[in-house]
This record gives sequence, structure tokens and C-alpha cells, in this order.
Amino acid sequence: MKILFFTGKGGVGKSTMAAASAWQLSQKFRVLLISLDPAHNVGDIFNVPVKEEKTRFTDTLFLSEVNLQKLAKEYLRREIDVLSGTYKYLTALNLDNYFNVLKYSPGIEEYALLTSIDRTVRSATEFDYIVFDTPPTGLTLRFLALPKVTLTWIDRLVKIRREILEKRYTIHRIRGTLSSEETVLDYKEEDDNIMKRLSELTKNYKYLDGILHGDDCSVAVVFNPDILSLRESERLIEGLNDLGLPLRLFINNKITDANEEMASYVETKMKAMAKDIPIERIRLAKPLLDGRTNPLYEVSERVIPDAWQ
Ligand SMILES: Nc1ncnc2c1ncn2[C@@H]1O[C@H](COP(=O)(O)OP(=O)(O)O)[C@@H](O)[C@H]1O
Ligand SMILES: [Mg+2]
Repeated sequence: MKILFFTGKGGVGKSTMAAASAWQLSQKFRVLLISLDPAHNVGDIFNVPVKEEKTRFTDTLFLSEVNLQKLAKEYLRREIDVLSGTYKYLTALNLDNYFNVLKYSPGIEEYALLTSIDRTVRSATEFDYIVFDTPPTGLTLRFLALPKVTLTWIDRLVKIRREILEKRYTIHRIRGTLSSEETVLDYKEEDDNIMKRLSELTKNYKYLDGILHGDDCSVAVVFNPDILSLRESERLIEGLNDLGLPLRLFINNKITDANEEMASYVETKMKAMAKDIPIERIRLAKPLLDGRTNPLYEVSERVIPDAWQ
């Protein structure tokens, strides 16, 4: 199974290109197109109602739009339940009372999106391709960074926890045998609930990190022949580099006779940043007022390089 992320500045044509490539790939493969952008338009592009559950568009193309708010709430609900189960003393705090405030915590949306990607990748094994249409650059980079960021923190927490367990063991040895009424705090890593939870989290995030950095994952950056989208793409490429994410395709979208020169200039700049990445050029499709044109079908022959098929 291959995974494709379409990223770029708002309005450059991420959704259109994600949809066009999903359509193109579905001529040969089984494809699932998922919109992670809260401002969904996959349904509008294909002109069908799309829900969170995969919606069948053709025998080989399925569509889905994630409900970010719902996901964020579910994520928080699960975390509160796990927290209350792992750290018994938190039950006294009754985290439930804080639910309506905690749901605005920074990072919840990013974790919720990552959970959605994780779930999809694990469960949608019947597809050859999963194409993700992503939210604006900032949010996308943050959720793509999460596995690494989280693993770094967990590693630190494991060290702290280990020190606590070692201290408990020392105390246990000094005190010797306890009477039956006294409680012995766990000092072995394999008995400790918090260590168990941390190693479970490590396993999950390592799996996801492996997927995002693997050979079967590709990030495409969509841009237009204009300076603002060039600047944002430069920041995006820098972010992808920092995170070691697999940038594999540039799409120079909305080219016209009038902006041809700017298109070449922008491409030169992009090549200077990432020289071996192929660039696909997509022309601006002519809109027809009778509603027949949908850029999706106009460009659907060309978005994905032949070499990928
Ligand atoms: N190659 C193209 N030809 C014509 N219109 C396009 C093309 N690519 C995108 N558009 C139009 O540009 C607008 C923004 O595209 P969209 O895919 O929604 O961008 P994004 O998802 O990056 O915000 C939409 O109206 C879309 O139909
Ligand atoms: Mg979009």
C-alpha cells in the first residue's frame, strides 16, 4: 500500500490535485482519497455527498472526509479514560469536569489527525493507494512532526520513570519485608502500569514514524506560478527536510500563457532547494459557465508521473 500526501498553501490546488491523482490512479489501482482539511471539498469536487465513512465513488475509488472536531473529542475521551485508568489518583480530580476546556488544548487537533491517519493506514489494507488531502501548511507540518516529537518526549519520560522505579527498589530493599497491610509500590518495569503505557505508546509511534518515513510514503508539494506560493513552498520544503519526510513530487499548478515566465522562475527556485524532485506542470483549466468543466477531469491524465504507475 502506498501513501500520498498533497501539501501546499491554501488555494494552490491541493484538493484538486489530490482528487485528480486519486482519479488517475483509480484507473489502474484501488484508491482511497481522504480529506484531512476541516474545510472539506472532496465531495464538491466529485459532486457527491461524502461522509467520514468511506463512500464508494467507483469500484476502485472511495472517498472520505474526516470530521476533525469529532475526532478531537474522541481522542480526548480515550486519553482521559486511559489516564484515569493508569494514574488512579487522577480519578479524584475528575478530569471529566474539565472536558469542555481540555478539548481546546493545543495539540489536540494534531493528535486527532495523526490518530486518523494511523487508523486508516492500519485498516484500509484493501487499497493500493491512500491519497491524503491535507490542511494548511502549519497544521500539516505539526501533525507530520508529531511521531518524532512524541517519541522524544516518551524517551525522556521513560528515563524519569526508570529513576523513580530504581528509588522505589532501593526503599524496598532498605525496609525489608512488609506486613500484610502495607502496600508495596511496583518497582519492576514489567509490573509498572506507567512503563507499560509508555512502551505501548513507543511501539505505536515508532510504527507510524516508520510509515511516514518509509519507501511507500510520498509527499507532494503543490504550488502556483506566484511569489507568495513560492515563499510558502520554500518554508514547507524546509519543514519537510527538518523532519526527514519524503518529498517526492512538485506540482506547478494553474499555468497559463500569461504566467509561463513566472512558472519557470518559480521552478528554478524550487529546483535550487530540492534538485532531484520531478516537477509536473498543470495548466489552468478553462472554466465553462454551464458547469460542465471540473478541473479534476481536465487535469486527471497528468498529475501523477508515469514512472509511479
Ligand atoms: N488546474 C486547475 N485549473 C483550473 N482551476 C483549478 C486548477 N487547480 C485548482 N483550481 C481551482 O482553484 C481553486 C482552489 O483549488 P483547491 O484544490 O480547492 O485548493 P486547495 O485545496 O489548495 O485550497 C478551486 O476553485 C479549484 O477549482
Ligand atoms: Mg483544499
